Amino acid sequence: MTERTAKRILDQAMPVETKILDTTEEGLEEAGSILREGGLVVFPTETVYGLGANALNSEACRNIFRVKGRPADNPLIVHLSSLQELPLYTREVPDTCFRVMERCMPGPVTFVLPKAFCIPDIVTAGLPTVAIRIPAHEEARKLIRYAGVPIAAPSANRSGEPSPTTFEMAHHAMFGRVDAILRGEPCRIGLESSVIQIRGNRIELLRPGFISLEDLAYLGQDSGLEVVDLSGSTSETAPPPSPGMKYLHYKPKATVYLFTSLSDLRNPLEPLPPSAIVLCTPKSGTSEDLTMVREWKGFRVHVYESLKEYARNLFAQFHEADKYTYPAVLAWYPPAKGIGLALRNRLIKAAGGRFL
Ligand code: TXA
Ligand code: MG
Repeated sequence: MTERTAKRILDQAMPVETKILDTTEEGLEEAGSILREGGLVVFPTETVYGLGANALNSEACRNIFRVKGRPADNPLIVHLSSLQELPLYTREVPDTCFRVMERCMPGPVTFVLPKAFCIPDIVTAGLPTVAIRIPAHEEARKLIRYAGVPIAAPSANRSGEPSPTTFEMAHHAMFGRVDAILRGEPCRIGLESSVIQIRGNRIELLRPGFISLEDLAYLGQDSGLEVVDLSGSTSETAPPPSPGMKYLHYKPKATVYLFTSLSDLRNPLEPLPPSAIVLCTPKSGTSEDLTMVREWKGFRVHVYESLKEYARNLFAQFHEADKYTYPAVLAWYPPAKGIGLALRNRLIKAAGGRFL
């Protein structure tokens, strides 16, 4: 055990001194050595900010669970800087799988693979598989190279809260809990990576993200792979059958309500809150409906030009709602195509299945 990890265990309840580092060569080098020595570093990626630790150091990884308040049965993603490192941390990657990986990595996608012995059980929550991601984000990959070890990193939020997509959000969630936070730009994608597993001739989607079902079908077609959605997000019927208590995730303090068309707000199923942030696109309803909502006092309306823009801003708007104490966010529930599937997955959980 390194001095750094030992000290953290002794000082459980004590705040940690957090360095703010820039993503310059010096900043990345310093953050890399903090990671190598067993410290925790928050860093930007193209999807969301991650809370990183040396993936080969069980104690450092245990601190991730402590700092996040994360249940021990939820495994971590291990981040590498290139596919060349893959054989060190995985076993028996079939050729078909490797061909798909080559075509989408580095990128916003995570592959679940059989794990090598060197990956500690705490990282994989005792599973025989390990989730591997190679971020497209240049500075994230440089950080991993400076660290010289694979980096285990979940999203840098406290468990249950929205993932941070800006430095401000990451700072808010983790300052005083980690050794360093790298000050990067807002995340380009804004939703966590697609998590997939290739078994037999199937690409199984476990968590939808920017790499969509359609993208996966395209990536797999040369190898004769079919794509199956196991994320439970494909259902075209909204509202979904049974929302229930399992959807405790991505939740801001503000109550999130979903709507399938702006016209639903004329005659809502529940009384509208006195003020709210409204998130929609030009496809969310007629221009008359949009004008109506824009005229409501106390409502701040964002009309994103595309689903990608909507996805990029979703978690940041959850944060804005809490920062400015809006009681609610009214969010459009888009069709399940492309990144719409990932948006629906996060929205349903954030709203606990609540529709207007
Ligand atoms: O974009 C992302 O993926 C971000 C950035 C930081 O890389 N990370 C992230 O990590 O979202 P986290 O911990 O918030 O989500 C990891 C997801 C969880 O749903 C976890 O259950 C799943 O990946 N996962 C990890 N290891 C797994 C495994 N061996 N088998 C199946 N699912 C796994
Ligand atoms: Mg997360």
